[in-house]
Amino acid sequence: MLNIAVLVSGGGTNLQALLDAQARGEIPGGRITLVVASRPDAFALTRAEKVGVPTAVLRRKSFESQAQYDEALLSILRENEIGLVVLAGFMTIISPTVIHAYENRILNIHPSLIPSFCGEGFYGLHVHEAALARGVKVTGATVHFVNEICDGGPIVLQKAVEIQPGDTPEVLQRRVMEQAEWKLLPKAVALFCAGRLQVKDGRVEILPAPDQKEEP
Ligand code: GRF
Repeated sequence: MLNIAVLVSGGGTNLQALLDAQARGEIPGGRITLVVASRPDAFALTRAEKVGVPTAVLRRKSFESQAQYDEALLSILRENEIGLVVLAGFMTIISPTVIHAYENRILNIHPSLIPSFCGEGFYGLHVHEAALARGVKVTGATVHFVNEICDGGPIVLQKAVEIQPGDTPEVLQRRVMEQAEWKLLPKAVALFCAGRLQVKDGRVEILPAPDQKEEP
């Protein structure tokens, strides 16, 4: 059983999707054993406490240097014997030190079809504003492994979501969450915990489940 840490900064709806999937038995190979927030007022902390998952708050500004922050984050991950880190709306940049310590063991969810509308500055509503401004007809969400390139790590899963006439950034954000993010993230976590994600040459291969030859 793999210990999972979920790192959050905001409302935590993606954390909730993971907790709900876990409660339904959909993540058999892992267990969420830690939630780390970058700010004490993140509602995601309340969601974790409600189901008895231990929490911690780590604020980048409470540390004098990046190295000290990295050390604190790595210590808490190691103390809790974390095998998978999930960034679910985590707004603090993860440094190369942490990325290397957890190479191909950090997953992130991004609310667009990477490589569109991603990279520096593309977070929160900005992503959806940019998609609407460009006039694309389809957007979506992507789960990827985290490497040193912002939103540039190996892609695990993607799901498309249609843009509808009259969409506002807020309406589109909600649809992308409901139709894509809340489904994709638990699925990717379950695949990782089942040992079915293999990274090779910067790409992810999804291995078949032991009892089936092909994906349905
Ligand atoms: C989501 O849109 C996610 O894709 C992005 O940040 C948002 C987090 O929302 N990385 P929540 O805190 O999970 O509700």
